[in-house]
Amino acid sequence: MGYSVREQTWWVVVVVGMTILGLHVGGGEGCLREEREALLKLKEAFNYPNGSSLPSWNNLTNHSDCCTWERVACDNYTHRVIELDLSHTRPQELRRIKWSLNASYFLPFHQLQHLDLWANYLSQSGLFGDIKLHSLERLHFGENELTEAPSFDLSRSRNLKVLSLLGNFLEGSLPESIMSLTSLTFLSLSHNNMNGSLPKQGGLCNMKNLQQLDLSLNNFEGKLPMCLGNLTSLSLLALNSNGFEGIFPSWLFHTLRSLATISFSDDNFRGSFSLSLLANHSNLRDFHMSCYNTNVKLETENPSFFPSFQLSYLYINGCTLNEVNNNKMPTFLLYQQDLLVLELTHLNISGAFPSWLLTNNTKLNTFAMSNNLLIGPFEPNSTSKLLQMQFFDVSSNPIKHEVPSNIGSIFPNLISLNMSSCSLQGIFPASIGEMRQLNDLDLSDNNLSSYLPQEFGRGGSELRFMRLSNNNLSSPCFPVKSTFRYLLFVGLNNNNFKGNIPTGIINSTGLRMLDLNANQLSGEIPSWIGNFQRMSYLILSKNSLRGSVPQSFCNLTELIYLELSENKFKGSLPSCLNMPLLKYLHLQSNQFMRPLPSTLANSPLLTLDLMRNNFSGQVPILFSLFLNLRVLILKENKLKVPFLLICVSSGK
Ligand SMILES: *[C@@H]1O[C@H](CO)[C@@H](O)[C@H](O)[C@H]1NC(C)=O
Ligand SMILES: *[C@@H]1O[C@H](CO)[C@@H](O)[C@H](O)[C@H]1NC(C)=O
Ligand SMILES: *[C@@H]1O[C@H](CO)[C@@H](O)[C@H](O)[C@H]1NC(C)=O
Ligand SMILES: *[C@@H]1O[C@H](CO)[C@@H](O)[C@H](O)[C@H]1NC(C)=O
Ligand SMILES: *[C@@H]1O[C@H](CO)[C@@H](O)[C@H](O)[C@H]1NC(C)=O
Ligand SMILES: *[C@@H]1O[C@H](CO)[C@@H](O)[C@H](O)[C@H]1NC(C)=O
Ligand SMILES: *[C@@H]1O[C@H](CO)[C@@H](O)[C@H](O)[C@H]1NC(C)=O
Ligand SMILES: *[C@@H]1O[C@H](CO)[C@@H](O)[C@H](O)[C@H]1NC(C)=O
Ligand SMILES: *[C@@H]1O[C@H](CO)[C@@H](O)[C@H](O)[C@H]1NC(C)=O
Ligand SMILES: *[C@@H]1O[C@H](CO)[C@@H](O)[C@H](O)[C@H]1NC(C)=O
Ligand SMILES: *[C@@H]1O[C@H](CO)[C@@H](O)[C@H](O)[C@H]1NC(C)=O
Ligand SMILES: *[C@@H]1O[C@H](CO)[C@@H](O)[C@H](O)[C@H]1NC(C)=O
Repeated sequence: MGYSVREQTWWVVVVVGMTILGLHVGGGEGCLREEREALLKLKEAFNYPNGSSLPSWNNLTNHSDCCTWERVACDNYTHRVIELDLSHTRPQELRRIKWSLNASYFLPFHQLQHLDLWANYLSQSGLFGDIKLHSLERLHFGENELTEAPSFDLSRSRNLKVLSLLGNFLEGSLPESIMSLTSLTFLSLSHNNMNGSLPKQGGLCNMKNLQQLDLSLNNFEGKLPMCLGNLTSLSLLALNSNGFEGIFPSWLFHTLRSLATISFSDDNFRGSFSLSLLANHSNLRDFHMSCYNTNVKLETENPSFFPSFQLSYLYINGCTLNEVNNNKMPTFLLYQQDLLVLELTHLNISGAFPSWLLTNNTKLNTFAMSNNLLIGPFEPNSTSKLLQMQFFDVSSNPIKHEVPSNIGSIFPNLISLNMSSCSLQGIFPASIGEMRQLNDLDLSDNNLSSYLPQEFGRGGSELRFMRLSNNNLSSPCFPVKSTFRYLLFVGLNNNNFKGNIPTGIINSTGLRMLDLNANQLSGEIPSWIGNFQRMSYLILSKNSLRGSVPQSFCNLTELIYLELSENKFKGSLPSCLNMPLLKYLHLQSNQFMRPLPSTLANSPLLTLDLMRNNFSGQVPILFSLFLNLRVLILKENKLKVPFLLICVSSGK
């Protein structure tokens, strides 16, 4: 195997050492028999009763060196297992079958440093015994189904540095057994059901080596203990989404000067917090503060400060920001140029649209400033491109200007664009067609006029969600030839579109919702409508559509909501209009005629509105069996309503 003299010497020492300890090197290839056998036992446990994970773990003579097995790493010199990655190993199809893991299976691994048991559906009743591994440094137990933390043999856990129990069902207060692991540098208990308050002294506060503490998404409560300020090595402190209360703990920042990530969102703190306290936290990269459940007032202007940090992530949502300064845009942002994500939403920030943020921060991936009071124009440096930008949401601001005509070349890689409710003026910019990755487009509730340009139709090949409702857009409704293939949701309602139902959607056979309400469309419903077999919501009301409901409607078996009111439809309803999910059928103010198909009674209808048509004949007696029906409007037809139905429907 080409060992150097030095390595061979090592080997002799190691093998002799192992022999003295009563261990044997198995298979002549370095993997200890004890460790190999323990791994095979683990494989059996993880696969109980009949799974087939870890196929490379087997006893075939040509493959007995367990150091070569998948998810196993050995030390190069001692050939002892040092890392075991057993994340996502329990087969998914066995998730409902209880299985057990005896912590003593790990005892043979004297040098195991890293054990990953992430996502194995392991529940409390399946975990036996103390973790007794004196070499263990990192233990990942995330995303299992534990209701209590595993117990540790503390005398043997002095090297444990990283412990993650994220995403289990842990209950009760912080367990003593974890707070005694004073060597920990990383502790995540995020996303569990833990409660109680943090101990005022000792406990957590003894964990002086902690660099990352994540208690987010639990039900912890009470005031934060002052001694938390002693954990001066902390770089990550995530306490968000708990019930912590009291005055916002500004005092923490006097001593916790190494913080890089701070998340205090959605607790029950009150009072105010001045970001100037963070001015000298030069490591700060990531600041999260959302106030949907809290009453914290954030202040960024008084006193003014010059930030020593360059943020990558900034999230401030729904807080009272700069109350005495007219919700002013934070000045410290003028000095930021490395932002990747900027979310400043629901803050009522006033003033001019901060286009300079887009010019200064060329690495931005997400820019969200919805629900503020920003006024246009929106004009980032038009010579620069923001190639990383994927999510841009400035919806619900009184921008009152045009969309920059070159928006497509500024954000060529955008995935989601939301500028709804911005009082946008002018035309729909053709350059949106240059955004080849665009999935979601929402320009609804604006004052855009003119038509949808051909360039848009040629570009939108990835578009899923298109909402252009409530504008003043006119024909052609859609570019005739389009590359739209994946549309799921199309809202073009309340515009001025004329002509036929647009053929531009024809290839999007996965369409779930089409809303063309309140336009000036004419012509008949094309028979290709039957291609949309996934359609749930079809709304064609308030147009000038003619003809009858085509037979191909019979294919729309997933329809829930069908709205054809206020058109010029005529003829009889096809008897296949009895879709198994149909809850809302609104046909009012058309010229439908003939008796109603009795099959309609097969649909679980909640509302049936047939007002102002020419339906005639007897209302099928079966309608009285419409047990779910909440609203039934039959007036202004020529129908004979059976007495029984009157009784039943008036009773609802
Ligand atoms: C494994 O066992 C389960 C439950 O006993 C059974 O439903 C499943 O079909 C079995 N799978 C295989 C591949 O034998
Ligand atoms: C090991 O042996 C088994 C059975 O003898 C054979 O199927 C397999 O291909 C061999 N593997 C290698 C890597 O030689
Ligand atoms: C062990 O050897 C492999 C391959 O030579 C090397 O990639 C790895 O870094 C080494 N590991 C250690 C801990 O030295
Ligand atoms: C766990 O394994 C140890 C050692 O093999 C054994 O003594 C103990 O009974 C096992 N525990 C359970 C609950 O199976
Ligand atoms: C920890 O914090 C408390 C309260 O702030 C303080 O009284 C105590 O001296 C600190 N202990 C250490 C070891 O820093
Ligand atoms: C930050 O450092 C500057 C310069 O050393 C100092 O004047 C200022 O008071 C410090 N600010 C805070 C909040 O500690
Ligand atoms: C950001 O833009 C503003 C306004 O153009 C400018 O004054 C400031 O110097 C820029 N900051 C950085 C860091 O580029
Ligand atoms: C923003 O202004 C609206 C309307 O005045 C108000 O209802 C809302 O609470 C304000 N939001 C914040 C975060 O101050
Ligand atoms: C706009 O971007 C170009 C190219 O990146 C740069 O040369 C120019 O100075 C920028 N203008 C402003 C106002 O930042
Ligand atoms: C766009 O923003 C509005 C208002 O903020 C919101 O209601 C709508 O769901 C968003 N559209 C998309 C596609 O997310
Ligand atoms: C909408 O735009 C038209 C011009 O296209 C203008 O006359 C009208 O005042 C605008 N309406 C609103 C509410 O801004
Ligand atoms: C809608 O656009 C048409 C021109 O296409 C214009 O005549 C009309 O005034 C606009 N309506 C509104 C409400 O802006």
